[in-house]
Amino acid sequence: MLTSSEQLAAFLDIATEAALAAGVILQDYLGNLDEIEEKGHPGDLVTEADRKAEIEILKVLRRHVPGHRILTEESGQVGSLDSEFFWAIDPLDGTTNYAHQYPVSAVSIGLMIEGVPQVGVIYDPFRRELFRAAKGLGATRDRRPIRVSKTCELSKSLLTTGFAYDRRQTTDNNYAEFCYLTHLTQGVRRGGSAALDLAYVACGRFDGYWERGLSPWDMTAGIILLEEAGGKVTAYDGSPFQIDSGRILATNGHIHTSLSTELQRVPSLTIWADLGKFSKLG
Ligand code: IPD
Ligand code: CA
Ligand code: CA
Repeated sequence: MLTSSEQLAAFLDIATEAALAAGVILQDYLGNLDEIEEKGHPGDLVTEADRKAEIEILKVLRRHVPGHRILTEESGQVGSLDSEFFWAIDPLDGTTNYAHQYPVSAVSIGLMIEGVPQVGVIYDPFRRELFRAAKGLGATRDRRPIRVSKTCELSKSLLTTGFAYDRRQTTDNNYAEFCYLTHLTQGVRRGGSAALDLAYVACGRFDGYWERGLSPWDMTAGIILLEEAGGKVTAYDGSPFQIDSGRILATNGHIHTSLSTELQRVPSLTIWADLGKFSKLG
C-alpha cells in the first residue's frame, strides 16, 4: 500500500505532538524522581517519568489514530494487531542517563507501514532538539534539513555504540567490537541512547553506529531519520536489516562497507592480553 505524502506528513505531525507532550513530562520529572525500579536485567531501569511520558504519548495516538497497532516499551502492544500501521515507541530512551541527570536521553516515536519505517520523531528534552523525518519528505533537526557526514575513511571516523542489559549474561556483549573499533577510528562513544545515536549519525555528528540487543522502539524512528538524511542501515554483514534481529549497522553510507568488514573480523577479547600487537592501528 502506498501512503500519500500528505498522509505521511499528517502522521509526522501527530508523532511530533506526542513527542513534545512527553518531553514536557520528562522535563518536569528531571531531578524529582521518587522511585527508580529495576526491570528484567540488572541496570535496566524504569521510572515514573518513563510511565507518565508513555501515557501522554498513548493519549495523543489514541485520539488521532485509534485503529493503529502500537508497541510501547512499558505497556507492550495495544490497538489492532492486524493493522498495517505499526507504531514503535520508547517514551524515554536513555533511562539510566536520565535517572542520573546525565543529559543524553530522548523520546522516540516511529511508525512502520507494512513493516517499513516511514515516519520518525526523536525529541531530546534536555537540548530541546527535535529530529523529524518521513519517507520521501526528508529529515530535519529543529525544522532545518540535515545530512549525514562526508567522512569516507574509518580511520577518520567517530563512531558510537551501546551495550545491552544482558551484557553480563553473554559473551556476545559488544565489548570486543568496542575495543577493536576504538583502535581503528578516531574514537567510539557510548552515549546511552540508541535513538540519539541514530539521530546523531543522521545529522553528521557521528559517522557510524552499530549495536546488538535492541528493540523496535529503540530503532524505528532513527532508521527513517537516517535514511532520509542520506545514510544506510543494514545488518552487520551488509545484508538487509531485520528489525527483529535487534542488531543494526547504521552509517553515513561512505564508511558502511569498511565498518561492516571490520565488524566481521573482530578478534576475540581473549587474545587481547598483548595490546601492543595492535599498536600499528592506533
Ligand atoms: C537503552 C539505550 C541504550 C542501549 C540499550 C537500550 P533504555 O534504552 O538505548 O543506549 O545501549 O540497549 O536498551 O533502556 O534507556 O530505553
Ligand atoms: Ca530504549
Ligand atoms: Ca526506554
